[in-house]
Amino acid sequence: MLAIAILAAGKGTRMVSNLPKVLHKLSGETLLNRIINTSKKLNPDKIFVVIGHKPDLVKESLFNNKNVEIVLQEPQLGTGHAVQVLSKELKNFRGNLLILNGDVPLIRTESLKELLKVHSSKDADVSLITNEKENPFGYGRVFKKDNFIEKIVEEKDCSIDEKQNKLINAGIYCFNWERLNNIINNLESNNNQKEFYITDSISLLGRAISFEINDEEEIQGINNRVDLAKCEEIIQRKIKTKHMINGVTFINPESSTVSEESEIGMDVIIEANSHIRGFSKISDNCIIGPNTFLENTFIKKNSKIVNTTIFNSEILDNVNIGPYSHIRPGSIISSNSKVGNFVEIKNSHLSQSVKVNHLSYVGDTKIGKFTNIGAGTITANYDGIKKNITNIGEYCSVGSNTVLIAPITLGNAVTIGAGSVINKDVKSNCLAIARVKQLNIDNWKKTN
Ligand code: UD1
Ligand code: CA
Repeated sequence: MLAIAILAAGKGTRMVSNLPKVLHKLSGETLLNRIINTSKKLNPDKIFVVIGHKPDLVKESLFNNKNVEIVLQEPQLGTGHAVQVLSKELKNFRGNLLILNGDVPLIRTESLKELLKVHSSKDADVSLITNEKENPFGYGRVFKKDNFIEKIVEEKDCSIDEKQNKLINAGIYCFNWERLNNIINNLESNNNQKEFYITDSISLLGRAISFEINDEEEIQGINNRVDLAKCEEIIQRKIKTKHMINGVTFINPESSTVSEESEIGMDVIIEANSHIRGFSKISDNCIIGPNTFLENTFIKKNSKIVNTTIFNSEILDNVNIGPYSHIRPGSIISSNSKVGNFVEIKNSHLSQSVKVNHLSYVGDTKIGKFTNIGAGTITANYDGIKKNITNIGEYCSVGSNTVLIAPITLGNAVTIGAGSVINKDVKSNCLAIARVKQLNIDNWKKTN
């Protein structure tokens, strides 16, 4: 049997935040959810999350995680106390208890599997992940004797000599639960932080062994925002490296970010300062950026998106967008279309080879193929109460500075004279002009 306990009750004072530490995000996902996802892949019999500081907020963040059991630690008297509180839930449990600090979010399932394997093969009371760290500041130091761990001393309790020890405790432990349970209430809080440390259980147990992890980045703990940024950098570097190996060019990788879920095709070029978020998918040969933000957006082959922001939309192949376009959710821009500078498109469907090149707003609109929308065209879709639909047919030519007051339908091959305010439907093959006729007065002079 395997139970997992994620310790997430602490305040995270060093984050200097109103948000509990475990609710801070890395690449869009909370620290806590990351650890839960990693834990689930081990198929444990139970997952507990120990919460305490701002419990309602933390609970709320777990609404999608039906299978985790929440344990309230109140007050929070240290990591050992968290396990004492948890012990009531594990009365009849037999097997291993994997304890994971909620602020060590990059540990991989594979490494945890190895830890569990070593633990079982050595019949240890406790096995924990360690690493020889160049700069061990802030971590508990692990002291070994004859291949067994003798004790762990927290940084704050270390003597000057003890601080020289660079072998650190990662905060990830596999305990034989029955043996830990026997001594868990014997922990004392006579240390500098006046807390009950889970690490003190090591010296109360018999066989304590260490599992040295190769990749120290996996066990980067997060105590402050500097650590948070370090972890983000680690995640981002790994994601971008994977894409580069798979044929994606990043012109200036440090300046761009890509979500873990996003897919990028071959020969895509990501220019500087471009950000690809959520579930986005970019097909082969696209050029993205510079200065582009895409969220939950699909882009088909050979499209070029410059200096543009796109949310929850679909861009088909050979499309040119930008610079300075804003494509809002629910939009589809079909093949060979062009959306130019200072154009906002919302919840609209542009068929193939449509051009909206300059300074326009197109909302809740359908545009047929080969239609050209002149500069400064506005679909007035909101009547103050509800949003209305605009339908524009194929091969239309909408003159510059036109206002189309929705709901309205233009047929196919319609021409609208520049500067028109159109509030009546226009039949196919029709020219519509709706503006005051120009009056020229000969030999006119200003009188005053
Ligand atoms: C802890 C370890 C340290 C290790 C480091 C690795 C102890 C005493 N020390 O130190 O040896 O090197 O992690 O990152 O365990 N928590 C609770 N309830 C509490 C207090 C804390 O659930 O009463 C949770 C926190 O939310 C956090 C985790 O336990 O997720 C670790 O607590 P933290 O205070 O950050 O411990 P460290 O000082 O980093
Ligand atoms: Ca910590």
